[in-house]
Amino acid sequence: MTNNVKLKQWVKEWAELCSPDSIHWCDGSEQENQMLLDLMVKSGMAVKLNESKRPNSYYFQSDPSDVARVEDRTYICSEKKEDAGPTNNWRDPKEMKETLRLKFQGCMKGRTMYVIPFSMGPLGSKIAHIGVEITDSPYVVVNMKLMTRMGKAVLDILKDDDFVPCIHSVGAPLQPGEKDAKWPCAPIADKYISHFPGTNEIWSFGSGYGGNALLGKKCFALRIASNMAKKEGWLAEHMLIMGVTNPKGVKKYIAAAFPSACGKTNLAMLIPTIPGWKVETVGDDIAWMKFGADGQLYAINPEAGFFGVAPFTSMDTNPNAMLAANSNTIFTNTGLTPDGDIWWEGIGYDAPVGTITWTNEKYDAAAICIPAAHPNARFTAPASQCPVIDKDWENPAGVPISAILFGGRRPGTLPLVYQSFDWNHGVFLGSIVGSEVTAAAIGLKAGVRRDPFAMLPFCGYHMGDYFGHWIKIGETAPDKTKLPKIFNVNWFRKSADGKFLWPGYGDNIRVLKWIFERVEGTSEAVKSAIGYIPITNAIDINGLSGVAENMGELLKVDKNDWNNEIELIKEHYTKFGDRLPKEMQKQFDGLVERLNKA
Ligand code: OXD
Ligand code: MN
Repeated sequence: MTNNVKLKQWVKEWAELCSPDSIHWCDGSEQENQMLLDLMVKSGMAVKLNESKRPNSYYFQSDPSDVARVEDRTYICSEKKEDAGPTNNWRDPKEMKETLRLKFQGCMKGRTMYVIPFSMGPLGSKIAHIGVEITDSPYVVVNMKLMTRMGKAVLDILKDDDFVPCIHSVGAPLQPGEKDAKWPCAPIADKYISHFPGTNEIWSFGSGYGGNALLGKKCFALRIASNMAKKEGWLAEHMLIMGVTNPKGVKKYIAAAFPSACGKTNLAMLIPTIPGWKVETVGDDIAWMKFGADGQLYAINPEAGFFGVAPFTSMDTNPNAMLAANSNTIFTNTGLTPDGDIWWEGIGYDAPVGTITWTNEKYDAAAICIPAAHPNARFTAPASQCPVIDKDWENPAGVPISAILFGGRRPGTLPLVYQSFDWNHGVFLGSIVGSEVTAAAIGLKAGVRRDPFAMLPFCGYHMGDYFGHWIKIGETAPDKTKLPKIFNVNWFRKSADGKFLWPGYGDNIRVLKWIFERVEGTSEAVKSAIGYIPITNAIDINGLSGVAENMGELLKVDKNDWNNEIELIKEHYTKFGDRLPKEMQKQFDGLVERLNKA
């Protein structure tokens, strides 16, 4: 418990509204964690995995309706609608609170209310911030224990009301004697993931799943933190952070933003194929960046674990992620093998006979349309278990960022890598990030889905103002010469016959090497209409067979393709109306002019 009067008062008010049977203040201890896991095994919500195969690890199957973030039930409740912008769902904060108060009324009957004090970032770091999540889900508590620093140590450093209040309920009260569902949650139309940037509050109702329920992650560390960062002059970004060391032992840190499902976790844990190079992981999803006293931009990973997509993670594609999830890990919506281990599509070996699916049915490998694991099945693993975790991943001062990368899945048009001319041009590259979607997969129109800065579902205010904030960061940097250099990468370019031109995975170090050397000023580039492109032979493809002949295509800037791209960017930019910063319009006009001259 705590002496913090404001926190106690806040918890009391919510307890009165939600009517839980009891209140549990989480101390973050191992005993508490074990007690909750045992409780969930007993209730049938969790399965303890085979101790000799997956020590101290647990398996969950969600309700089939509660498997992913729900973007169309996610709201930014700013005072003015125009401040949420065209990329967010908006609701009036007063109206939303009225609606939600009715939902929260009595919603924890028959359940325990857990109070989780947590720090996003190393305890006491100047870049870190504290939140307190109230939840009626023990699944949330054990996941928050892996994904954040949580418990008593956080309460010890919490001052007054210097915390982001996060309130969560699965929205499934129990009548006396009623048997609980295996995965309690509310129907889709009753789910609300609501953010109140005016008061830095998060109210989440009806879902028990990942990004909807672990409120430190997308809700706080991105949507609310992006608002805080705008007000306070820092950056809260959907970026991985990695350390890259060259054979001479020189190390540089890189942050990179890619839309969801473009391989951020794989890149963050890459195993280089060039001898002597090393990659170490600071974070795989979120970066908070502030200027240090020396004028450099420093980044922390506000999280303490990985909430990774399981399918197609294997000892081939990402051995470091596999090893991180070897023990002390929570698996959600994967398959379950008869000997008490997990299995998923693309894990690298066949499913043992008798495997059951995430929907708790017998897995039939022949019926290939019914996967064992949901495509969004997840592992929640402690970051400290990653074999290549960076020694400074918990440094409260953060790590100095030398380069920022943007990228997406683009089968055409975008070269393997190019560098921006300067900061504002780099902001332009971030503003036009896009990824190819296949219509069948997510029910969207096929083509390029623009996802500026990979923040489309995560920017907590008007996207045009967000571009403006990035421009301001460049203008107000204490030392402009120390700003990170900005690049765009595209591992996914395809040949006319639909084959990937670049091998990807560990060979991406070859592109990182060029970037590293651009930052050092030692690798060469030519100026093109779109930015600096590596000169012929500047990308080290030593020892790679069958790629030399692709390099021309991989680095090509095709005028026709780019004239088409211009039209798509124009369409994308019209969404932001008069909130599109004039600097971005200037960048766009500059690109058109350079292309006309090319
Ligand atoms: C995630 C996402 O879960 O970006 O990290 O969707
Ligand atoms: Mn993400």
